[in-house]
Amino acid sequence: MDKLIITGGARLSGELRISGAKNAALPILAATLLSQSPVSVGNIPHLHDITTTMELLGRMGVDLTVDEKMNIEVDSSTINSFVAPYELVRTMRASILVLGPLVARFGEAHVSLPGGCAIGSRPVDIHINGLIKMGADITVENGFIHAKAGRLQGCRLVLEQITVTGTENLLMAAALAEGTTIIENAAKEPEVTDLAHFLNKMGAKITGIGTDVLVIEGVEKLGVDSIHYDILPDRIETGTYLIAAAITGGSIKLKNTRPDILDAVLEKLVEAGADITTGKDWIKLDMHGKKPKAVSVRTSPYPAFPTDMQAQFTAMNAIADGVGIITETVFENRFMHIQELQRMGADIKLESNTAIVTGVKKLTGAPVMSTDLRASASLVIAALVAEGDTLVDRIYHIDRGYDHIEEKLSQLGATIRRVPR
Ligand code: UD1
Repeated sequence: MDKLIITGGARLSGELRISGAKNAALPILAATLLSQSPVSVGNIPHLHDITTTMELLGRMGVDLTVDEKMNIEVDSSTINSFVAPYELVRTMRASILVLGPLVARFGEAHVSLPGGCAIGSRPVDIHINGLIKMGADITVENGFIHAKAGRLQGCRLVLEQITVTGTENLLMAAALAEGTTIIENAAKEPEVTDLAHFLNKMGAKITGIGTDVLVIEGVEKLGVDSIHYDILPDRIETGTYLIAAAITGGSIKLKNTRPDILDAVLEKLVEAGADITTGKDWIKLDMHGKKPKAVSVRTSPYPAFPTDMQAQFTAMNAIADGVGIITETVFENRFMHIQELQRMGADIKLESNTAIVTGVKKLTGAPVMSTDLRASASLVIAALVAEGDTLVDRIYHIDRGYDHIEEKLSQLGATIRRVPR
C-alpha cells in the first residue's frame, strides 16, 4: 500500500489547475447508460473512483475509450449485463448510481448493496423507494438490490431527506419515464445541477435545475445524437488546496475552478483571515504569512457549508488562533480524522456530533492512518505545518478523490513524496 511522507514547514505558493469534479463525473458516467449514441465526456479527473466506474461499466459490456486528454467516450449499445458486483460497489458506494439508468432504459438491474461505511450507515432507502413509486419491482435479497420494470411512470416524489446520489438516481430514471416526475426536497449540489445539464444536453426535459424542486418531463429516448460534455471543476479539491495554503500562511492562485459554487467555504476562509480575490474561473488566496484564526462551521446540504470540507477545516483549526466549533449534521460518524490529528498533538474534544478544536502552537509529525477520503486530506493538511515528518498510510483513500495530490502539492512548494508499498 502506498504511503505519503510529508515534511512540514514549507509555506505554499504558486499556481495550480483544478481538476474536474469527481462527484459530477461519477453520475454523468452512469448517465451515459441512458444514451442511444456514443457520448464523449471531458475534464474527467485522473482518480481511482473513475477507474472503478470504468471497470463497472466495462464489466457490463459497455465500450469505453479514453484519449490522452482524459476525454472518455462511452458507447452503451454493447451492454450485455445489468449487474454491479459487490467487489466494485464495496470500494465505491457511488456505484449505486447505475441503478436508476439501468432500470429506466433496460428495465433490469442487480446492484450490490453498498454495506457499511466509515462515515456512517449511509442507507439507500430513498433511492429504492423512489424507483418503486415510479413502478419498478424491487427486492433486496442476498445483499443485492434486484429491480425489474416496464417503462417507469412519472410521479411526485417528496424526498424524506436531502440526498445527493438519491436525487441523481431518481433524476436519471425520471428522464426516461412516461409522463412528468416532480422531485421535491431535491439536493441542490452543483454536481446534481451538472448532471441535469448533461441530461438536458442529451435531450431530457428538466426544469427547476439548481432549486429543490426538479420537474422532469419524461422522453422516450435520450442521446439520439452524439454529444460532448465537460465536467464542472471540483469545488472540494479547490477548497482543500485553499486550506492547504491557508494553514501554511501561504499565497496561491487556483485556475480552472468556480468561485461561485464555493461561497460558504470562501466566507469561512475570509473569517480565518485570508485575503481572497476571485475571477470567473480563478481564486487567489493570500494569508500574508499569518496564522489562521479559528472558525466555527456547521455542515449542511448545499448551499450551506459542505460536509466534504469539514475534516480540512478541523485540521486548520488545530493550529489556528482560538477555538473553533465544528458541527457535523450530514453524517453522524464523520470524525475518524480526529484521533489521528490528536496523535499529531491537536487539542480536540468530541461531544456527540460536535468537535471543539482549540488551536495549539504546533503539531508534530507522526505516523497516521487514512480512514476515508476527506479525513485523509485533513491529515495531509495538518502534516504540511507539523514539525518533522508525517507518514500518511492507506492513501488509497486519497487516490480515490484527489488527482495527483503529491505532484500538485510539490508544485506549490510542499515537501511530499509517495513511497510505494
Ligand atoms: C454524496 C457525495 C459525498 C458527500 C455527500 C453529502 C457523491 C458520489 N458523494 O454522497 O461526497 O459527502 O453527498 O454531501 O456525490 N440518506 C438516507 N437514505 C438514503 C440516502 C441518504 O438516509 O437513501 C442519508 C445519509 O445517510 C446521509 C444523508 O442522507 O445522512 C445525506 O447523504 P447523501 O446526500 O445521500 O450522500 P451520498 O449521495 O452518498
